[in-house]
Amino acid sequence: MSRVKIAAGNWKMNKTATEAVEFVQALKDKVAGADTEVITGVPFVCIPSVKKAVEGSNIKVAAQNMHWEENGAFTGEVSGAMLADLGVEYVIIGHSERRQYFAETDETVNKKTHAAFKYGLKPIICVGESLTQREQGVTSELVRYQVKIALLGLSAEQVKEAVIAYEPIWAIGTGKTATSEQAQEVCAVIRKVIEELYGKDVADAIRILYGGSVKASNAKELFTMPDIDGGLVGGASLDLDEFDKIVNYN
Ligand code: G3P
Repeated sequence: MSRVKIAAGNWKMNKTATEAVEFVQALKDKVAGADTEVITGVPFVCIPSVKKAVEGSNIKVAAQNMHWEENGAFTGEVSGAMLADLGVEYVIIGHSERRQYFAETDETVNKKTHAAFKYGLKPIICVGESLTQREQGVTSELVRYQVKIALLGLSAEQVKEAVIAYEPIWAIGTGKTATSEQAQEVCAVIRKVIEELYGKDVADAIRILYGGSVKASNAKELFTMPDIDGGLVGGASLDLDEFDKIVNYN
């Protein structure tokens, strides 16, 4: 089963709108002929100007979060309707930093995933274990649970369109990348639980990314593993040359 690889940047809280436009204007030429699907996950305040700057290019835009309600008394929040209105294509949901600092739970991840589809956004759903959980030997049980709850209630067609990002928390921002064997093992577990829940056709179609200290130097080895369909890239996506090399890993 051939799946289009994804190189998705998660900029986190970095780059002003001015800096973001400069960056993507330079990135456009570098990735124009890429085989991978190129996504930039930008801060909310950068979305309008980045969308305008990448118009006509192969660069897609992701938000880094969203609320599951359409509107209301949720100070500081941004809805899926607002993101869709800006032409956002993807939304990162359930990142470990949202879980750690902003009370994100598997249940709110599920609510946000349904809301994403309601507004025509493709969710990039983040799952992954802590170092303690890996050392306890519960990584597989944990990601199986996280995936099951995140996708609860979705149709098979919706699951095909979703993207799962396996991000071991101990590899995020640490420079300590999971080995390609470790990453492959967990991504295979994720694909297996999706097969159990939705069937082989859906499991073969969904794209599963690895995230956690992806660099130009390790992208090819990771992205060519059988169950890894690309990467969700943090720090390296902020550097033009690094991200260009990751996008054009092959
Ligand atoms: O969402 C991607 C991010 O968590 C990975 O960060 O800096 O380890 O590539 P980084």
